[in-house]
Amino acid sequence: MIVKCLFPVAGYGTRFLPATKAQPKEMLPILTKPLIQYGVEEAAEAGLTQACFVTGRNKRAIADHFDVVYELEDQIKGTSREDRLACIRGLIDECSYSYTRQTQMRGLGDAILTGKILIGDEPFGVILADDLCVGDEGIMSQMLKVYEKYKCCVVAVEEVPIEEVSKYGVISGKQLDERHTIVETMVEKPTPDEAPSNLAIIGRYILTPAIFDTIARTPPGVNGEVQITDALQILAKEQMVMAYRFKGKRFDCGSIDGFVEATNYFYTQMKQAEEGA
Ligand code: G1P
Repeated sequence: MIVKCLFPVAGYGTRFLPATKAQPKEMLPILTKPLIQYGVEEAAEAGLTQACFVTGRNKRAIADHFDVVYELEDQIKGTSREDRLACIRGLIDECSYSYTRQTQMRGLGDAILTGKILIGDEPFGVILADDLCVGDEGIMSQMLKVYEKYKCCVVAVEEVPIEEVSKYGVISGKQLDERHTIVETMVEKPTPDEAPSNLAIIGRYILTPAIFDTIARTPPGVNGEVQITDALQILAKEQMVMAYRFKGKRFDCGSIDGFVEATNYFYTQMKQAEEGA
């Protein structure tokens, strides 16, 4: 059973400066909920109720968000505003939260290895909160089913326009069916010419604990950073790594376009729900 989910949240969010100067990018809201809350909700829906954060400087607001503020609760108790806190209060009660810090930005692979102290020797999920995903069934829940069947590392992928592959880790391999591909090749941020396909990894992973030793022997790659893509490429040669085309939609909330698109999507949903009510 997988119960832990790792949230690497140490990144600076420079694309959203100055908004991210003094607050974590993961706390930027889509309507009234911060990005990180969508991620924790997706994990909890899949039964991954132990949230493990790899944080950095300036990220205290995340820990505060997943804690109770008694004064505030007391003040709005019995008023019409009370239910505005209900969804986060429920999540606080449902999950446990633990934190460790990455002291230097050495890449996503390094961030995941930093989380080993919180994860231990068990398989776990990874959610990058920048990638906000929606679907009838949560993406992590879908991936859990893939893990249960194949008992190997799983990465979520989607097709992207070939001119955009350089933003992603890109995979190719042996396609089993419409949704499953056994990974043979993975390249981090290739040029369109180097890319093995247009199947891009999005920020959802299920990893087995073997990944930690593998990351430790992965040399720095693109941008001089230890890349999880490179570690998974090593692992794919030693054991199976499965790429899964998820059902649903992803918003790249690490970019202004994606962030606005997500905001519009959730706003339309909210208005439709209000009209239907
Ligand atoms: C990271 C990963 C990349 C993946 C992407 C998904 O890149 O390194 O392989 O495709 O997340 O969002 P980043 O967006 O941190 O540059």
